[in-house]
Amino acid sequence: MRRVVNIADLRDAAKKRLPRVVFDYIDGGADAEWTLRENSRVFDDVMLRPRSAVATPSVDLRTTVLGSTIDLPFLFAPVGSSRLFFPRGEEVAARVAGEAGTIYTLSTLSGCAVRDVKAATRAPVWYQLYLIGGRDVATGAIERAKNCGCSALVVTVDTPVAGMRERDVRNGTKELVSGAPFAKLPYVFQFLARPRWFAAYLRDGGLMRFPNIVLKDGPMSYADVGAALEQSMVSWDDFKWIREAWQGPIVVKGVHTADDARRAIDHGAAAIVVSNHGGRQLDGVAPTLRVLPEVIAATKGRAEVLLDGGIRRGSDVVKALCVGARAVLIGRAYAYGLGAAGGEGVARTIDILRSGIVRTMKLLGCSSVRDLDRSFVHIPAEWL
Ligand SMILES: Cc1cc2nc3c(=O)[nH]c(=O)nc-3n(C[C@H](O)[C@H](O)[C@H](O)COP(=O)(O)O)c2cc1C
Repeated sequence: MRRVVNIADLRDAAKKRLPRVVFDYIDGGADAEWTLRENSRVFDDVMLRPRSAVATPSVDLRTTVLGSTIDLPFLFAPVGSSRLFFPRGEEVAARVAGEAGTIYTLSTLSGCAVRDVKAATRAPVWYQLYLIGGRDVATGAIERAKNCGCSALVVTVDTPVAGMRERDVRNGTKELVSGAPFAKLPYVFQFLARPRWFAAYLRDGGLMRFPNIVLKDGPMSYADVGAALEQSMVSWDDFKWIREAWQGPIVVKGVHTADDARRAIDHGAAAIVVSNHGGRQLDGVAPTLRVLPEVIAATKGRAEVLLDGGIRRGSDVVKALCVGARAVLIGRAYAYGLGAAGGEGVARTIDILRSGIVRTMKLLGCSSVRDLDRSFVHIPAEWL
């Protein structure tokens, strides 16, 4: 970890430790991966406007999200199957997020049970919901998340079907999780090429089930995931029973447009995540930072607006806050850390981003993230 300077270095380290099929699952996007690339590139379109010679002896990174104070202006996004990246991956990532004073969001498609993840951290945990298995199965998951003290329900609305991740097809993901032994054969050598990862994976129990998706015959197995996602679409009508079952704050994740922002609020969203799933779903949608002004204008302060997608530097976080996000979520930035070196890698992700935010703020002449606004950036005129 000593030679890791930025998130790209952590990505390289993850690539060295993980088998190709796992690394590409984290790193890849849908189709031509245009949206994936644009999510990061678009930060170049926003230029910073510093105030020089302003004393900033200390910088306050604290902010509040849905009433919780967090020590960093970024949260952990739901990242499915993190347990494949490192033993008990979701618990490890949640613990390190909590030590840094920020929120961890647990994916429905996680390898660790929600109560164990909640117990691993002293900071709040949000639970991300897919309707896999139908309404009764989802209601069970909502109950468990509620009973163990998760503080918000994140409903992801951009996954009526899994995106076309071409790398997963080439790497034989489907064959590896559900194929007959003969079909798996061409792909298993990727595991043998990463013996350190493979040994850790076997020690952690090998191919997992999803403990938060409890079907009639027990937790859902890996093999069922593709088919299950196709039958798990959420529609606005579902929000009525979801609100009744949850009875707490709801975050709608996967909003791209003013219309959907208004619709999400009308259906009870206390917060919105402007997100295109990290470019993993509909390729060709605009990068998230580009649509943030439109969504903020539409919400008119009726819901908190968060953003994810493409965050790789502290300055990216600062720019998103200047444009108007209340906070951001990071996905791959911590997934690379987890894949590279477990908790130590996740801690390095946080250090890199935290120190980047502090340095950018000092150079900007701003001493609190709550004071960041559009006066600190130049935004292309056509965005507004
Ligand atoms: C490996 C991986 C798995 C993901 N799994 C989920 C998931 O289960 N549920 C969900 O709502 N979003 C999921 N996402 C999307 C993230 O929550 C987030 O929107 C995205 O990673 C943000 O972009 P970034 O990776 O560029 O930070 C996943 C992303 C990655 C990289």
